[in-house]
Parts: sequence; C-alpha cells; structure tokens
Amino acid sequence: MTNNKKIKVAVLYGGRSGEHEVSQQSAKSVINNLDPNRFEIIPIGIDRQGHWLLGDVKHLEFSQDGKALQLPHASTQVQVAPHPKSSVGEKFDVVFPVLHGTMGEDGTVQGLMELADIAYVGCGLLGSAIGMDKDVSKRLVAAAGIPIAPYIAFSEGEWQQNAAKLSESINKNLHYPLFVKPANTGSSVGISKVKSADELEAAVNNALLYDTKVLVETGVNAREIELSVLENPEYGLEPLVSVPGEIIPHHEFYSYEAKYLDPDGAGLAIPAKLTQEQIAQAQSMAKQIFKALECEGMARVDLFLDKDSGEFIFNEVNTIPGFTTISMYPKLWQASGIDYQDLLSKLIDLAIARQNRKRALKREWVPE
Ligand SMILES: Nc1ncnc2c1ncn2[C@@H]1O[C@H](COP(=O)(O)OP(=O)(O)O)[C@@H](O)[C@H]1O
Ligand SMILES: [Mg+2]
Repeated sequence: MTNNKKIKVAVLYGGRSGEHEVSQQSAKSVINNLDPNRFEIIPIGIDRQGHWLLGDVKHLEFSQDGKALQLPHASTQVQVAPHPKSSVGEKFDVVFPVLHGTMGEDGTVQGLMELADIAYVGCGLLGSAIGMDKDVSKRLVAAAGIPIAPYIAFSEGEWQQNAAKLSESINKNLHYPLFVKPANTGSSVGISKVKSADELEAAVNNALLYDTKVLVETGVNAREIELSVLENPEYGLEPLVSVPGEIIPHHEFYSYEAKYLDPDGAGLAIPAKLTQEQIAQAQSMAKQIFKALECEGMARVDLFLDKDSGEFIFNEVNTIPGFTTISMYPKLWQASGIDYQDLLSKLIDLAIARQNRKRALKREWVPE
C-alpha cells in the first residue's frame, strides 16, 4: 500500500479538562498501536488554554516515566473551520478524539467536527453530551427500566437559594453514606463520599467548584462491574458487548488517587467473577444502556452489583474511556477476542462509515 493511500488519522489529545494527563497517557498507546499499514498519524495536542498544536509523529516526545505523550512544541496551530473547503479537515480523513472529560468527551469537539464535516471516532454529539451528564444519562436509563441509585440533582443557583430545603430533602429521601458529584466530570474529580449530615455542605461546595450542577446519591454497597460496548461493524445489528470486568478499589472508593496516583490503588479482575446468569444479565443491560443513551462507536458501561440486593444498577457511561493498553476498555476487548490494534481499526472504520452515511443524506429540500 502506498503512503498516500493510507487513511490520515488526526489523534487529538491533552485538552482542557481535569483529565488532561490521563489523555496524554491514552494517546501514547493509541498512537503506538494504530496499524501502520493502514493509517498515517497526525498528532494534535490541545493545551490547557485550548490551543490546538500540530505535531509530527517523527518528533514525538514522552514524559519522563515514558507513560504519557507530551504536547507538541507550539509550532503550528490548527484551525478547524465550519466549512470543509477552508478547513484543516482536508488534511486528514478522520479524527480520533482521545480526550477525556469536558471539552472533548462531552459533545463539544464532536459538534465542531460535525460543522467541519470531518469523520470522528466514537459517540456523536448527542450521545457524547448525554453520556457526560450523570443526571441526564441516569434519567434516560431509568426511563428504559434499568435500576439506578436514588439521587437528587440541583444547580448551583438552586443550592444558593435553597440549601436548607435541599439538605432536608436529601436527609429525608437518601441514605448515608452519600456520594456527592459534579454532573459533568470524570476520573472522580470533585467527588466525595459523605458519611454524615454535617459533611454534606462542604462536599456540595467542593463539587460546585467543578460544575454548576451537582448530584447527591445514595451510596451503594457495591462491586464495580464494567463492560466494553462497540457499535456493530454490520450497520443496524445489535452492539457488541465484551465480557464483564471488575474494579476492586483498595481505597475508600474508586477515587482519583486510586485511579491514577497510587500504583496499587485498585485491582482489575478480567473477567469478573460472576455466574453465567449474572454475565448474561450485565451484558444485556450494557447493550440496552448503549442504545438508551444514543451511543455510537464505543462506550464503557459501568455498573454496580449491589451486594445487599444482588441486583445490577447503572452507574455511568464513559464515551471516551481510558485507552492505555492496560485500561479496562481495550483489555476487556482483548479478553473477548478483539486485540488493541484491531479495536482501533474497527473504531476508525465505524467513524468513516457513519460520516459517509451522513454525507449521503439530502441536506436541502426544494418544494416542487
Ligand atoms: N452511589 C455510589 N455508591 C457507591 N460508590 C459510588 C457511588 N457513586 C460513586 N461511587 C464511587 O465513586 C467512583 C467514581 O464515581 P463515578 O460516578 O463513577 O464518577 P467518575 O465519572 O468520576 O468515574 C465510583 O467508581 C465508585 O467507586
Ligand atoms: Mg466512574
């Protein structure tokens, strides 16, 4: 295959969220594992201020521990314009947003790609935005008949106006320990486990540092079970679901420290120790959730298995899950028969197929 026939993949990484560093780690694995026979890689690092910096695969630099891909040194800034002819979109065929959290996983970048008519990997604008919002996603999943932990969501304004009433309602309707979380973050940023009423206010104020909407949720005595879902390469068929995996946090809960700072913060069990019946149940739920949340491409569905009731509960969905070779999403696929490189190829093929379908749609209608 000649070089100019390769599919040009722009890998976006870094970004403006609290998960900037995590994204640099995911990007390193993605770039190192994309099939060199099929793809030409164009790295684009996004700095914390939001500048898009064009890199060169020949000059990639890694962090001291070798785990993360550094941002390109501010040579060329990339512009994405809402018009294909004037856009950098001409320079590549597909964008792989390896961005976690806000301004990347939440529909913003996806919307920009829609405007620029560029194919992109993963969920579309709607699925990304829904998946990022822990309140809206829970409402849709509950509407699909899947259990969730009881919670109350409110805005910063509502808290300012009615903190006393909201606290009263929380104390009346929910059970301690509570989990207080910003509606739109990831990696446990801004999340607290609250064991008594006198800790509630501080936890809410802390969560409000990261988002203007907060969820207060009943704590579940749970095993944390995760599944990888992939859009079916055969358009229109049911999504594919991996074997379930389990996160076993060694901390009070699966906090930022347990996820990234403490090398012994959590154990992974792949596959999770579950009965055949539980596996089937979790897989069927994951499929339903993927569809209820308008997901496309990929998503990692995180469930709780309530140790008290024995029932699976939806926790959250991650539309751009961690993507290092040791991350749950690719590892679950590996355990289910799709290796990392093949997974990346499938995701890119899905992105291009979706864009081709969209391009074939009639955009104008002229009355006869
Ligand atoms: N209702 C809950 N009951 C028990 N543990 C919870 C609950 N909500 C969150 N947690 C703990 O906090 C972690 C992070 O919460 P999560 O909602 O998954 O946010 P994030 O998007 O940051 O991963 C979970 O993995 C779990 O360990
Ligand atoms: Mg989580």
